[in-house]
Amino acid sequence: MNNVLETIKARRSVRAYDNRQVPLGDLQAILEAATYAPSGMHYETWHFTAIQRTETLTELNNRIKGAFAKSSDLRLQERGASSTYCCYYHAPTLVIVSNEPTQWWAGMDCACAIENMFLAAQSLGIASCWINQLGTTCNDPEVRALLTSLGVPEGHQVYGCVALGYAAPGVSLKEKVVKAGTVTIVAE
Ligand SMILES: Cc1cc2nc3c(=O)[nH]c(=O)nc-3n(C[C@H](O)[C@H](O)[C@H](O)COP(=O)(O)O)c2cc1C
Repeated sequence: MNNVLETIKARRSVRAYDNRQVPLGDLQAILEAATYAPSGMHYETWHFTAIQRTETLTELNNRIKGAFAKSSDLRLQERGASSTYCCYYHAPTLVIVSNEPTQWWAGMDCACAIENMFLAAQSLGIASCWINQLGTTCNDPEVRALLTSLGVPEGHQVYGCVALGYAAPGVSLKEKVVKAGTVTIVAE
């Protein structure tokens, strides 16, 4: 197997991180990988907002919880009221991936960029996880105000976030079992 295929197969979602910050050079390489992803019509209307400031991440989580607290969904209300809930698992770095919602493929562009970041991170020994909670809360007024202050363009929707960091010691990852029957090859 070549390195790319090995990296693809080794990547897993990690939901517990230690305190070590992602070095700036590695973060820049991961963000550059994002910008090399394909985008529909090569519009590149996306934006990547990387946050490495702990207080800002805590404030973002608090505002997401505030939005959840306003929800009619009981499960989300519970998350909003929880003192321990942290949607980004206390990862030291979070990359917010946003795009203009004007093209129907805006989310697809973001997903391509996100997978590039996951694979780039994996290749550098950095763990990652997709964090989706801003997808439904980014238009809450308190959340939006913070996003704008951080540099997320005003007309953008958030299509996903990437948590980045080093896996906490002893974190156990279940063996990946892939579903059978999801591939069809129509050959000559
Ligand atoms: C669109 C999408 C949204 C996801 N949202 C979350 C999320 O909000 N929180 C989380 O812990 N994992 C999230 N995940 C990660 C999936 O749970 C994970 O990829 C799946 O369980 C397979 O595990 P693996 O990534 O280790 O292969 C998301 C994945 C995708 C593709």
